[in-house]
Amino acid sequence: MDKSNPNHPDFWNSRFQAGKTPWDFGGVPAGLKKYLKHRPKGSNPAARPRVLIPGCGSGHEITTFAAAGFDVTALDMAATAVELARKNAGPELAPHVLKGNFFDHDFPAASFDVIYERTFLCSITPDRRPAYRDRVAQLLKYRGTLLGFFYYQPPVPADGPPFGFAWGSADELFARYFLLGKDEPVTDSLPLFAGRERWQEWHRTSFCG
Ligand SMILES: C[S@@+](CC[C@H](N)C(=O)[O-])C[C@H]1O[C@@H](n2cnc3c(N)ncnc32)[C@H](O)[C@@H]1O
Repeated sequence: MDKSNPNHPDFWNSRFQAGKTPWDFGGVPAGLKKYLKHRPKGSNPAARPRVLIPGCGSGHEITTFAAAGFDVTALDMAATAVELARKNAGPELAPHVLKGNFFDHDFPAASFDVIYERTFLCSITPDRRPAYRDRVAQLLKYRGTLLGFFYYQPPVPADGPPFGFAWGSADELFARYFLLGKDEPVTDSLPLFAGRERWQEWHRTSFCG
């Protein structure tokens, strides 16, 4: 058992089992609802874009993405989270919730149009951020979008997770493959993130092998 290392599933399993999940929104945040209402539909409105929700936790957003016309894949490495997300997703969508590690799960490159971020990036230790960026760039289609909620708070490794971004450091990280298309404040943050959360849409640009 490794309950002290956030890069290990035991850390998260123990928190879900103890019901200590202060990051859990218990529903779908307004920023995502707004995006889904106004999102660009592309040249073929009938096409079902593919979305990945890495580190999905309870997976409250799964049914919302599906109702908005997305083909959803949710992934979590903690068995308790997967169980919870499958229950919340319901029988039809439960098979779309996979147990696996975001960094090495067997997805083909350029599989997704959208990758949805909420409190997954801030749950991994800051040394893994370049690996996160590279993995997102690999899994997104060209011109795909990494979107969702990003946490800004200079990281104090001993205090995390959550591990925030110092202002400007997300731009440095993502600039290699992404352009920031939207950056807005978040008004319905949970206390843990209040005043330090942004809704952002990062568009994948240059080629990444
Ligand atoms: C803070 S929780 C966020 C859950 C969910 N995104 C939410 O907003 O409620 C972080 C989640 O990421 C999962 N996780 C952490 N590292 C992971 C990895 N490398 N691969 C897959 N899941 C991971 C944890 O098991 C946990 O469920």
